[in-house]
Amino acid sequence: MLKSNRIKLRAIEEGDLPLIASWRSDPQVYEYFYEFLPISSRQQKNWFEKQLQDSSEINLVVSNLSGIAIGTVSIYHIDRRNRKAEWGRLIIGDPAARSGGIGAEIEALILQYSFEHLNLHKLYCEVLVENEKVISLHKKFGFREEGILRDHAFKAGKYADAIILAMLDSEYFVQRTEGRLATMLARMHDSSDSHGAAQ
Ligand SMILES: CC(C)(COP(=O)(O)OP(=O)(O)OC[C@H]1O[C@@H](n2cnc3c(N)ncnc32)[C@H](O)[C@@H]1OP(=O)(O)O)[C@@H](O)C(=O)NCCC(=O)NCCS
Repeated sequence: MLKSNRIKLRAIEEGDLPLIASWRSDPQVYEYFYEFLPISSRQQKNWFEKQLQDSSEINLVVSNLSGIAIGTVSIYHIDRRNRKAEWGRLIIGDPAARSGGIGAEIEALILQYSFEHLNLHKLYCEVLVENEKVISLHKKFGFREEGILRDHAFKAGKYADAIILAMLDSEYFVQRTEGRLATMLARMHDSSDSHGAAQ
């Protein structure tokens, strides 16, 4: 389920932490995150240990099929009573690997896992309004805009708005049968499709 014909979503191993820290320190990445903090290896290890005990978060590495880390993605604020969760921390580490459709594959796998395995009723995310690429990516999968969070983050000396996008399980199952997701999942799981495996 957490695998296509070119990527896998797997658990984070301690050995992945330095690479993840380097991605989080990339200005092209943190400009789209709410915060940037220089993080020591000790702080990272503490975060890693803490999240292992936290059932409200699933933090994953995106890897190629050999298991080599190429990015991250997370599902968090998992609320089992209300069957909802947020997702994000979406990063493809190598800028050269971006814009080649891997982000869309990650999104398809996260949607399938959230609604067909975690049995969520609602999946939502917050995206800074200037991140047009990611907003367009989510909308193409059927995420709907629920509202604007005004002045939600202080970025580069000024306040920035964020948008909330969400999908319900009923909307997911329509996408799953007739939307972009249906086509993508069929292609992604088709072993005859060689479509440039991630290096
Ligand atoms: C966000 C990220 C994971 C997306 O992955 P990606 O592999 O680059 O994305 P894809 O190639 O799958 O493209 C996804 C969609 O983005 C949209 N897109 C691409 N470039 C765009 C641009 N310049 N402007 C607007 N939309 C754009 C397209 O809709 C594309 O869909 P398509 O398949 O119909 O072309 C990756 O770019 C990244 O790591 N960025 C830096 C970190 C970041 O911004 N994280 C998100 C924080 S919310």
